[in-house]
Amino acid sequence: MNEITKPRSTFALTFSLLKGMRKIGSFRLWSIYFLGFVLINGFGGVQAWSKEGHIMTCKIAQELLVPNAAHVVRMLLPDYANGDLSTLCVWPDQIRHWYRYRWTSPLHFIDTPDDACSFDYSRDCHDTHGGKDMCVAGAIKNYTSQLSHYHEGTSDRRYNMTEALLFLSHFMGDIHQPMHVGFTTDEGGNTIGLRWFRHKSNLHHVWDREIILTAAADFYEKDMGSLQKAIQANFTHGLWSEDVTSWKDCDDLSTCINKYAMESIKMACTWGYKGVEAGETLSDNYFNSRMPIVMKRIAQGGVRLSMILNRVFGGLDPLKDTLVAT
Ligand SMILES: *[C@@H]1O[C@H](CO)[C@@H](O)[C@H](O)[C@H]1NC(C)=O
Ligand SMILES: *[C@@H]1O[C@H](CO)[C@@H](O)[C@H](O)[C@H]1NC(C)=O
Ligand SMILES: *[C@@H]1O[C@H](CO)[C@@H](O)[C@H](O)[C@H]1NC(C)=O
Repeated sequence: MNEITKPRSTFALTFSLLKGMRKIGSFRLWSIYFLGFVLINGFGGVQAWSKEGHIMTCKIAQELLVPNAAHVVRMLLPDYANGDLSTLCVWPDQIRHWYRYRWTSPLHFIDTPDDACSFDYSRDCHDTHGGKDMCVAGAIKNYTSQLSHYHEGTSDRRYNMTEALLFLSHFMGDIHQPMHVGFTTDEGGNTIGLRWFRHKSNLHHVWDREIILTAAADFYEKDMGSLQKAIQANFTHGLWSEDVTSWKDCDDLSTCINKYAMESIKMACTWGYKGVEAGETLSDNYFNSRMPIVMKRIAQGGVRLSMILNRVFGGLDPLKDTLVAT
């Protein structure tokens, strides 16, 4: 048995969490964490409920894996995932507020200078304290590089390969969400409060979730599986079938990752922020013109995640050990 995938039930996990919290000795803190854990994970299986985009990205990617890569991914997943990567693709969002993982928070996005509408790795990829590489592009390079050292049974023991896989899979979704590469002052649209049809929301959340949920409700009877199939149909034999090869095209991974971030900030400027005023109501016009972009970004995220995993694990075109951040 592979020790990385040592089976661990949700109950066992909960129990160790509980013990850890007792040591802190604060019942209040413990109860908040415990409640959060129960709400997020439930018992008897981890099922995410809040991040449809991540789930679709990971499902699309997993279906495109070559056999070797599919095998390694299954080996790295804990047993309770039942071989399904998408069930754990939201894990990095669930843990980012936990004390032990608070350092991962800046890895979900990039703050670019207001109105610059460009991404420059050395200028923009840092956290608020100037910590180098602490952004979503740096994290993707980091975890890809960790995984590229994985050879069955002899992985680098400094790193947890399961965590590296989950971080990479999640961050490939984030970097394709245009508002995750947004302006600094408004925190990628988070502080731009507005209405989405009848309810309160903000510009960041519109792109994270609202557009996806509205699309699912209007066209797919709220069935995420059908929406995902429709996205897949559009790149296998529809709208984007001619473009998929160029999406996957990548000589130097580090350059490609910078390009994905650049695409996002360009889209954030031309489609995300454009014409939006805080306090206004966004509805049909915004939805109809932006939905195609959201769908395309989910597709690209999935296709490109599979490209990276196939390169790292597929044994076709092994990455060089020197993936340096530039
Ligand atoms: C890797 O990380 C996961 C998630 O944090 C954890 O459950 C698992 O025990 C870790 N594996 C090893 C070998 O430390
Ligand atoms: C790279 O991964 C390691 C292990 O998880 C972590 O300690 C480090 O902060 C990460 N750096 C970036 C930029 O992701
Ligand atoms: C798929 O492509 C058609 C146009 O050919 C478009 O109308 C539809 O919205 C697309 N669906 C998704 C989910 O992207």
